[in-house]
Parts: sequence; structure tokens; C-alpha cells
Amino acid sequence: MTREILVIGGAGYVGSHAVEALRAEGYVPVVLDNLSGGYREAVGKAELIVGDMGDAALLDMLFSRRQFAGVLHFASLIDVAASQKDPARYYSNNVAATLVLLESMRKHGVAHLVFSSSAAVYGEPEHSPVTEDAARKPVSVYGQTKCMVEDMLAAHHKAYGLHYTSLRYFNAAGAHPNGSIGECHPEETHLIPLVLQAASGRRRSVSVFGNQYPTEDGTCIRDYVHVCDLAAAHVKALESLWNGSASRCYNLGTGKGYSVLEVIRTAERVTGKTIKTDMEKRRDGDPAVLVADGSLAREKLGWVPAYPELETMLQHAWAWESRMAESIRSREVV
Ligand code: UFG
Repeated sequence: MTREILVIGGAGYVGSHAVEALRAEGYVPVVLDNLSGGYREAVGKAELIVGDMGDAALLDMLFSRRQFAGVLHFASLIDVAASQKDPARYYSNNVAATLVLLESMRKHGVAHLVFSSSAAVYGEPEHSPVTEDAARKPVSVYGQTKCMVEDMLAAHHKAYGLHYTSLRYFNAAGAHPNGSIGECHPEETHLIPLVLQAASGRRRSVSVFGNQYPTEDGTCIRDYVHVCDLAAAHVKALESLWNGSASRCYNLGTGKGYSVLEVIRTAERVTGKTIKTDMEKRRDGDPAVLVADGSLAREKLGWVPAYPELETMLQHAWAWESRMAESIRSREVV
């Protein structure tokens, strides 16, 4: 029997890659997305229901008509700076709407959930690489919303027997190697797409936010992890919940960090273009170094990144960016 999985936020960047991963493993993903940060085209052949996770009536209707074997929840707002400016929107979408989802799942006996959390729960970690037992000290509203959902999940597990996995992503990067999907945010703030847009000519240059951090070249170090590896971790997490694994949090990263300047230099190598940079002041709330100790996910979920090299992530992201830039150019010509 085919298993239907509800993928909330499945039209977004990581969610759409998880939809592909589920289909490749023989599951039937059903996407619920309000298209606030995602795209209809990103779900491919999967069924798309346009709607909001906070719409209790819609969820009740869905859960009463369909037999979902599990839920993947990607439907968070992710812009750290925006979360500081408009916290109510972040608490409402990321926390309150998740509570609506949990209530509806409980009411309809849907007991397995995989949640997209973030390294933002750690804030400025005291040790690197970071293990899951490090203190959670978020420095942004965005990070707080992830902590609040993790706390709600733990309480629902204890009180109502919800089986959950919370996956703390480090820096998602890359695109599907088949070229069909990739990163496309309505307002791009992430380093790699911005660097590649500068290479393709969609932007004049890329800003480097700070070069006086206590790192070798003075720029921030991040642990980039291929989006297909993140997607694969969701399938493994769900399967391991079905097999009776404990409900808990895992870090998802490769354990290797790259500085902002290393990312730019690698992108120049991959694209064969010179990328112009503008040195800017630090961005608020950026930790100097954020690198995962991902050994728990390897040990307990059997998760081994298939594309651990930054160069491969950039090659896949560059193929995607070249396609985007070309389609924009051809629209301009018409
Ligand atoms: N950066 C630049 N120039 C830019 C954009 C980013 O120098 O134009 C730098 C940032 O200062 C940072 C690094 O590049 O040092 C990576 O920045 P991103 O914005 O790509 O990613 P973040 O590390 O800020 O954010 C990621 C996720 C968030 C999550 C956070 C956890 O995208 O969702 O990790 O800390 F909250």
C-alpha cells in the first residue's frame, strides 16, 4: 500500500526537495502550502493544496478525509532580520499555527511528525562543533520560535504520545542535481544565492558582512549542507519514527565550516567568473562560527551526506542559478 505523507511548506526550498525525495522512495507526498514563500512549480507532479497551516477547518477536513502516515513540517518564516522587525508575524506563523497543526493531528490520531528546526536555536554557541546538548540561547525572534516549537513537541510527546523528530539545519545550500528545483526566495538574503546572482550578472556585487571576526580571514564561518541531504534526512527520520525510535532533536550539518570569503572564492572557481565584493559592517545577530557536530544523526538515523563538498553544492546551485538568469533574460527579450 502506498503511504501518503502530508508535506506542509512543500513548495518552498527545502520542502520541495523533500517532496522529490519522498517520491523517489515510493511515498505519495501531498503538499499543503500557502505559497507565501514557495512556488506552485516547485512541487512538480505532487498534489498541491493551497492553504494555511493555521486554518483549523482546512486541517480537520484534510485529516478526516485522508490517511496520512506522517507529517513533514517546513512551513516557517525564515528571515532573521524580519523576525526582529515584526515579531508578532513570526510568533503567529511559526508558533501559533504549529499549535493548530498539533491539535488537529492529535484530534485525528496522526502521531508522526518531522519538524524543520534550525541552528538558530543555539544563538552564539560556546563550543564548536555544536552538539545537540549545547545550551539553547537564541539571539533572534526567529530562533526563539524554533525553540518554542521544540518545547511544544516535547510536551506533546510526553502528554499525548506524539512521535516527533526535530531537525536542526545548519546552512542549507545547493539545488537538485537534476536541475528541476533549487533555491528561490521572494527576497533573497542568503549568501550562496546572492554570490551566484553576482556571478550570473543578476547583481552587481555581493556584500561581505564583517571581516573582523575572530576567524582566520576575519569573515564568518558556516557549515553548508546540501539541500538534498537535508531532504533525505527527513525521510530517514520519519522511517525511524515508524520503527520506534525515540523522539528527539538532531543537528544536520557536515561538520566542516567555510568562511564567507572561502565561499566566494570557491564560487569563482566553479563559475569561472570574477565576483565583485563590497565590504560592509557586521549584520546583527551573526555568530562568528556555526559548525555542527552531526554524529548523532549519522549514528541514530544512518544519515550520511551524499554531497558533503561545498564545491558540489555550488555546482548544483550554479546550474540552477544559470537557468533562472536565462529564463529572466528570455522573458526580458520577449
Ligand atoms: N553573508 C554575507 N553577505 C550576504 C549574506 C550573508 O556576508 O549578502 C554572510 C552572513 O553574515 C553569514 C553567512 O554569510 O555570516 C551566511 O549567511 P546566510 O544569510 O546565508 O545564512 P545564516 O547563517 O545567517 O542563516 C542560516 C539560515 C537561518 C538560520 C541560521 C542559523 O538561513 O535560517 O543559519 O544561525 F537561522
